[in-house]
Amino acid sequence: PVQVKKICCIGAGYVGGPTCAVIALKCPDITVTIVDLNQARINAWNSADFDLPIYEPGLEDVVRQARGRNLFFSTDVDKGIKEADLIFVSVNTPTKKAGVGAGFAADLNYVELATRRIAAIAESSKIVVEKSTVPCRTAESMRTILEANSKPNCKFQILSNPEFLAEGTAIQDLLSPDRVLIGSLQTPEGKDACASLADVYAHWVPKDRILTVGLWSSELSKLAANAMLAQRISSINALSAICEATGANIDEVAHAVGRDSRVGSKFLRASVGFGGSCFQKDILNLVYLSESLHLPEVAAYWRQVVEMNEYQKRRFSKRVVDTLFNTITGKRIAVLGFAFKADTGDTRESAAISLVRDFVAERALVNIYDPKVPHEQIWLDLAEAMPTTPSATIQKQVTLSPSALEACKNAEAVVIATEWKEFKTIDWETVYAGMNKPAFVFDGRMIVDVEKLRNIGFKVTVIGRGERL
Ligand code: NAD
Ligand code: UDX
Repeated sequence: PVQVKKICCIGAGYVGGPTCAVIALKCPDITVTIVDLNQARINAWNSADFDLPIYEPGLEDVVRQARGRNLFFSTDVDKGIKEADLIFVSVNTPTKKAGVGAGFAADLNYVELATRRIAAIAESSKIVVEKSTVPCRTAESMRTILEANSKPNCKFQILSNPEFLAEGTAIQDLLSPDRVLIGSLQTPEGKDACASLADVYAHWVPKDRILTVGLWSSELSKLAANAMLAQRISSINALSAICEATGANIDEVAHAVGRDSRVGSKFLRASVGFGGSCFQKDILNLVYLSESLHLPEVAAYWRQVVEMNEYQKRRFSKRVVDTLFNTITGKRIAVLGFAFKADTGDTRESAAISLVRDFVAERALVNIYDPKVPHEQIWLDLAEAMPTTPSATIQKQVTLSPSALEACKNAEAVVIATEWKEFKTIDWETVYAGMNKPAFVFDGRMIVDVEKLRNIGFKVTVIGRGERL
């Protein structure tokens, strides 16, 4: 197998950035260059004060150690391609917005453009690694494009190496992954390429955690893993609705169920609904794949996981309105948290967006506070979620607050949408003193001390907990 000396990563986003920064950290003998067309993003990666384009605990430290040593960020995509012996394709693959498969299929345009660029620019043989999440058999399309457009002396091996990191814990996940998955063609050349990439990871990942499989299994495993994780959340959220109607407590139910070692305790936290750039997109992708394979029952099964999530978000906003005497018109509501989970500034598919949209539609006044999400991002998300609402209306009804305490002032209700640690230690006495009465708290993340808040005087509603308790 070729010993990898130079890596290029196309796409300096949430995956390409942290993944290749960790590879550079752990492999001082390899030069890693991360390239992207987005100049602003590359500038941020290169910024003197390490004002990086994404917030991820521990990331700055990794970049501080490796940047300028064997880790480089650049917009010179062609140079990166030319010099590398292994290229990660880590570009975005969002859900298609128009055309065949709109709303379900993955938009592979960015993958295709990057692949075509590799074919046009490469002057020597390369290992091309699909890092982006893609539908099954995309590697075959990449191979066809590369072979049809390459120079005669260039040979390409395509590998699938899906990424399993979760945002907010990306560095930890990358430093000690449960497994690294590498898919290749089962030809001698394919297996050699696979061994070359496995050697890169073997710098820090124990060999028994590096799984090598066929290309299509690798591609499908990524969609399958996300579908099964999201399915657990939708299952527990479906049960949370039963808890609310019966007086059972979803926390107790999840604990009891999770103690069965066959089920396991992780990913059973009821919530206001899952968000993030992956779960919904990848399940819809699986639905589309199933339909294209003429498996309508399979498609319907997975689609229901996403539908349950939509229901959970709707159900939560409705519970807020119902509890506030069936109207929130003109009432001030504090929304704490806008990111799709704690420890990230990412808002893609965040449940908070749906909640604020519903509150604005009910003509409430909404104060939003999030410790990491940039304000411009919140305005962009709200404009996109309410395409028919004039921006003046949104601006009139929504205020972005500089702190949780500030957001709660004069509010009728506080809604917790993201489980940021700082929301666990809010000075609830001060919040209560500054609110209209009765003062309501709606905990969409099960983080408040219900007894304590009730003793202060709050009316508390928690996801998955019946009022009868
Ligand atoms: P992202 O949008 O943060 O980053 C993608 C980057 O690629 C962008 O900066 C974009 O400018 C760049 N890009 C697009 N086309 C390009 C081209 N032709 N040349 C150079 N640069 C180009 O996306 P992300 O969150 O990093 O996700 C990337 C892929 O990884 C997706 O397929 C996603 O499904 C998958 N994934 C994401 C996560 C996650 O937690 N975000 C986890 C696992 C897998
Ligand atoms: C997910 C997968 O976990 C990761 O392996 C994959 O590579 C990318 O997609 P991510 O979306 O970054 O990662 O975060 P994750 O921790 O999975 O959370 C996704 C959403 O589910 C968040 O909104 C989170 O709040 C929610 N969630 C998670 C729950 O509601 N309950 C849980 O028990 C766990």
